[in-house]
Amino acid sequence: MKPSYLVSGLPGHPLHPPLTDATIGTYTVATALAVADVTGLSENAAAGGWWFALLFGLCLTVPTALTGLADWLKITRGTPLWWTATWHMVVMVTATVFFALAVILGHDGWQGGDVDAGPFVLNVIGFLILAVGGWLGGSIVFVHGMRVLNLVDEPTGRAVAPVPHSEKEEAEA
Ligand code: HEM
Repeated sequence: MKPSYLVSGLPGHPLHPPLTDATIGTYTVATALAVADVTGLSENAAAGGWWFALLFGLCLTVPTALTGLADWLKITRGTPLWWTATWHMVVMVTATVFFALAVILGHDGWQGGDVDAGPFVLNVIGFLILAVGGWLGGSIVFVHGMRVLNLVDEPTGRAVAPVPHSEKEEAEA
Protein backbone atom coordinates (compact mmCIF):
# COMPACT_ATOMS: atom_id res chain seq x y z
CA MET A 1 0.00 0.00 0.00
CA LYS A 2 1.56 3.23 -1.18
CA PRO A 3 0.93 6.43 0.88
CA SER A 4 -0.16 8.16 -2.36
CA TYR A 5 -3.21 5.87 -2.48
CA LEU A 6 -4.65 7.89 0.45
CA VAL A 7 -4.95 11.05 -1.69
CA SER A 8 -5.14 9.64 -5.20
CA GLY A 9 -7.12 6.46 -4.58
CA LEU A 10 -6.16 3.06 -5.93
CA PRO A 11 -5.18 2.36 -9.53
CA GLY A 12 -8.55 1.59 -11.11
CA HIS A 13 -10.41 3.42 -8.34
CA PRO A 14 -9.21 7.05 -8.33
CA LEU A 15 -10.66 9.35 -5.64
CA HIS A 16 -11.10 12.53 -7.68
CA PRO A 17 -13.92 11.39 -10.04
CA PRO A 18 -16.40 10.24 -7.35
CA LEU A 19 -15.74 13.40 -5.34
CA THR A 20 -16.46 15.50 -8.44
CA ASP A 21 -19.87 13.83 -8.71
CA ALA A 22 -20.77 14.96 -5.17
CA THR A 23 -19.39 18.47 -5.71
CA ILE A 24 -21.06 19.07 -9.08
CA GLY A 25 -24.31 17.53 -7.77
CA THR A 26 -24.34 19.87 -4.78
CA TYR A 27 -23.72 22.97 -6.92
CA THR A 28 -26.47 21.76 -9.26
CA VAL A 29 -28.94 21.52 -6.37
CA ALA A 30 -27.92 25.03 -5.23
CA THR A 31 -28.49 26.42 -8.73
CA ALA A 32 -31.89 24.71 -9.03
CA LEU A 33 -32.95 26.13 -5.65
CA ALA A 34 -31.77 29.62 -6.65
CA VAL A 35 -33.81 29.42 -9.86
CA ALA A 36 -36.83 28.19 -7.86
CA ASP A 37 -36.56 31.19 -5.54
CA VAL A 38 -35.93 33.82 -8.20
CA THR A 39 -38.76 32.60 -10.42
CA GLY A 40 -41.13 32.40 -7.43
CA LEU A 41 -41.66 28.64 -7.77
CA SER A 42 -40.77 28.32 -4.12
CA GLU A 43 -39.95 31.09 -1.70
CA ASN A 44 -38.25 30.78 1.68
CA ALA A 45 -37.50 27.06 1.64
CA ALA A 46 -35.63 27.30 -1.67
CA ALA A 47 -33.57 30.29 -0.52
CA GLY A 48 -32.72 28.57 2.77
CA GLY A 49 -31.58 25.39 1.03
CA TRP A 50 -29.73 27.37 -1.66
CA TRP A 51 -27.21 28.99 0.66
CA PHE A 52 -26.50 25.78 2.58
CA ALA A 53 -26.10 23.82 -0.65
CA LEU A 54 -23.58 26.37 -1.94
CA LEU A 55 -21.70 26.26 1.36
CA PHE A 56 -21.68 22.45 1.33
CA GLY A 57 -20.47 22.54 -2.28
CA LEU A 58 -17.56 24.74 -1.23
CA CYS A 59 -16.68 22.29 1.58
CA LEU A 60 -16.76 19.38 -0.88
CA THR A 61 -14.58 21.36 -3.29
CA VAL A 62 -11.65 21.16 -0.84
CA PRO A 63 -11.07 17.36 -1.03
CA THR A 64 -12.15 17.37 -4.69
CA ALA A 65 -9.54 19.97 -5.65
CA LEU A 66 -6.83 18.37 -3.48
CA THR A 67 -7.29 14.91 -5.05
CA GLY A 68 -7.31 16.54 -8.51
CA LEU A 69 -4.14 18.43 -7.61
CA ALA A 70 -2.45 15.21 -6.48
CA ASP A 71 -3.14 13.68 -9.92
CA TRP A 72 -2.22 16.85 -11.79
CA LEU A 73 1.21 16.93 -10.09
CA LYS A 74 2.02 13.54 -11.65
CA ILE A 75 1.44 14.74 -15.23
CA THR A 76 4.51 15.55 -17.32
CA ARG A 77 4.66 19.34 -17.69
CA GLY A 78 4.04 20.80 -21.14
CA THR A 79 2.36 17.70 -22.62
CA PRO A 80 -1.10 18.00 -24.26
CA LEU A 81 -2.58 16.16 -21.24
CA TRP A 82 -0.91 18.67 -18.92
CA TRP A 83 -2.38 21.60 -20.86
CA THR A 84 -5.89 20.12 -20.79
CA ALA A 85 -5.60 19.36 -17.08
CA THR A 86 -4.16 22.81 -16.35
CA TRP A 87 -7.04 24.52 -18.16
CA HIS A 88 -9.40 22.25 -16.20
CA MET A 89 -7.79 23.39 -12.95
CA VAL A 90 -7.94 27.10 -13.87
CA VAL A 91 -11.59 26.85 -14.93
CA MET A 92 -12.61 24.92 -11.79
CA VAL A 93 -10.81 27.37 -9.49
CA THR A 94 -12.57 30.24 -11.31
CA ALA A 95 -15.98 28.56 -10.84
CA THR A 96 -15.17 28.10 -7.15
CA VAL A 97 -14.41 31.83 -6.78
CA PHE A 98 -17.85 32.68 -8.23
CA PHE A 99 -19.58 30.25 -5.83
CA ALA A 100 -17.59 31.64 -2.89
CA LEU A 101 -18.59 35.21 -3.81
CA ALA A 102 -22.24 34.11 -4.08
CA VAL A 103 -22.03 32.63 -0.57
CA ILE A 104 -20.42 35.74 0.91
CA LEU A 105 -22.60 38.31 -0.89
CA GLY A 106 -25.76 36.18 -0.58
CA HIS A 107 -25.58 35.79 3.17
CA ASP A 108 -27.68 38.84 4.11
CA GLY A 109 -30.41 38.14 1.56
CA TRP A 110 -30.50 34.51 2.67
CA GLN A 111 -31.06 35.59 6.27
CA GLY A 112 -34.09 37.51 5.00
CA GLY A 113 -35.28 34.42 3.09
CA ASP A 114 -34.24 35.60 -0.38
CA VAL A 115 -31.72 34.93 -3.12
CA ASP A 116 -30.69 38.45 -4.18
CA ALA A 117 -30.03 39.34 -7.82
CA GLY A 118 -26.24 39.75 -7.50
CA PRO A 119 -25.54 36.41 -5.77
CA PHE A 120 -27.98 34.73 -8.16
CA VAL A 121 -26.04 35.97 -11.19
CA LEU A 122 -22.74 34.92 -9.57
CA ASN A 123 -24.21 31.47 -8.87
CA VAL A 124 -25.43 31.02 -12.46
CA ILE A 125 -22.14 32.22 -13.97
CA GLY A 126 -20.25 29.87 -11.61
CA PHE A 127 -22.47 27.01 -12.73
CA LEU A 128 -21.83 27.69 -16.42
CA ILE A 129 -18.08 27.83 -15.78
CA LEU A 130 -18.38 24.59 -13.77
CA ALA A 131 -19.97 22.93 -16.81
CA VAL A 132 -17.02 24.00 -18.98
CA GLY A 133 -14.64 22.61 -16.33
CA GLY A 134 -16.56 19.32 -16.29
CA TRP A 135 -16.23 19.13 -20.07
CA LEU A 136 -12.45 19.62 -19.76
CA GLY A 137 -12.35 17.00 -16.98
CA GLY A 138 -14.10 14.60 -19.32
CA SER A 139 -11.44 15.33 -21.95
CA ILE A 140 -8.70 14.42 -19.48
CA VAL A 141 -10.29 11.06 -18.78
CA PHE A 142 -12.17 10.06 -21.93
CA VAL A 143 -9.90 11.62 -24.59
CA HIS A 144 -6.43 11.49 -23.02
CA GLY A 145 -7.36 8.37 -21.04
CA MET A 146 -5.75 9.50 -17.77
CA ARG A 147 -6.16 6.88 -15.02
CA VAL A 148 -8.22 4.68 -17.31
CA LEU A 149 -7.00 1.09 -17.21
CA ASN A 150 -9.23 -0.34 -19.93
CA LEU A 151 -8.85 -3.89 -18.60
CA VAL A 152 -11.68 -5.21 -20.74
CA ASP A 153 -11.22 -8.84 -19.69
CA GLU A 154 -10.63 -8.20 -15.97
CA PRO A 155 -12.93 -10.63 -14.07
CA THR A 156 -15.85 -8.74 -12.44
CA GLY A 157 -14.92 -9.86 -8.92
CA ARG A 158 -11.46 -8.36 -9.28
CA ALA A 159 -12.64 -5.30 -11.24
CA VAL A 160 -14.97 -4.22 -8.39
CA ALA A 161 -12.65 -5.25 -5.54
CA PRO A 162 -10.80 -2.50 -3.64
CA VAL A 163 -7.42 -3.74 -4.81
CA PRO A 164 -4.84 -1.95 -6.96
CA HIS A 165 -4.96 -2.89 -10.64
CA SER A 166 -2.10 -2.68 -13.04
CA GLU A 167 -1.54 0.96 -13.95
CA LYS A 168 1.31 2.26 -16.09
CA GLU A 169 3.07 3.80 -13.10
CA GLU A 170 2.52 0.55 -11.17
CA ALA A 171 4.13 -1.47 -13.90
CA GLU A 172 7.09 0.93 -13.93
CA ALA A 173 7.48 0.97 -10.13
C1 HEM B 1 -14.58 21.95 -8.03
C2 HEM B 1 -13.45 21.35 -8.31
C3 HEM B 1 -13.35 20.28 -9.39
C4 HEM B 1 -14.33 19.58 -10.03
C5 HEM B 1 -15.82 19.66 -9.82
C6 HEM B 1 -13.67 18.69 -10.96
C7 HEM B 1 -14.33 17.85 -11.87
C8 HEM B 1 -13.70 16.90 -12.65
C9 HEM B 1 -14.37 15.98 -13.52
C10 HEM B 1 -15.87 15.93 -13.76
C11 HEM B 1 -13.43 15.18 -14.06
C12 HEM B 1 -13.69 14.01 -15.01
C13 HEM B 1 -13.87 12.76 -14.16
C14 HEM B 1 -15.03 11.95 -14.58
O1 HEM B 1 -15.70 12.27 -15.57
O2 HEM B 1 -15.32 10.96 -13.88
C15 HEM B 1 -12.15 15.58 -13.54
C16 HEM B 1 -10.95 14.98 -13.84
C17 HEM B 1 -9.72 15.44 -13.42
N1 HEM B 1 -9.50 16.60 -12.68
FE1 HEM B 1 -10.90 17.74 -11.79
N2 HEM B 1 -12.31 18.87 -10.85
C18 HEM B 1 -12.08 19.84 -9.92
C19 HEM B 1 -10.86 20.36 -9.52
C20 HEM B 1 -9.65 19.95 -10.03
C21 HEM B 1 -8.38 20.54 -9.74
C22 HEM B 1 -8.19 21.78 -8.83
C23 HEM B 1 -7.43 19.82 -10.42
C24 HEM B 1 -5.94 20.00 -10.50
C25 HEM B 1 -5.24 20.75 -9.74
C26 HEM B 1 -8.11 18.76 -11.12
C27 HEM B 1 -7.50 17.78 -11.88
C28 HEM B 1 -8.14 16.73 -12.51
C29 HEM B 1 -7.46 15.59 -13.11
C30 HEM B 1 -5.96 15.35 -13.13
C31 HEM B 1 -8.47 14.78 -13.67
C32 HEM B 1 -8.26 13.43 -14.38
C33 HEM B 1 -8.89 12.25 -13.59
C34 HEM B 1 -8.26 11.98 -12.27
O3 HEM B 1 -7.19 12.48 -12.00
O4 HEM B 1 -8.86 11.27 -11.44
N3 HEM B 1 -9.46 18.87 -10.88
N4 HEM B 1 -12.34 16.65 -12.68
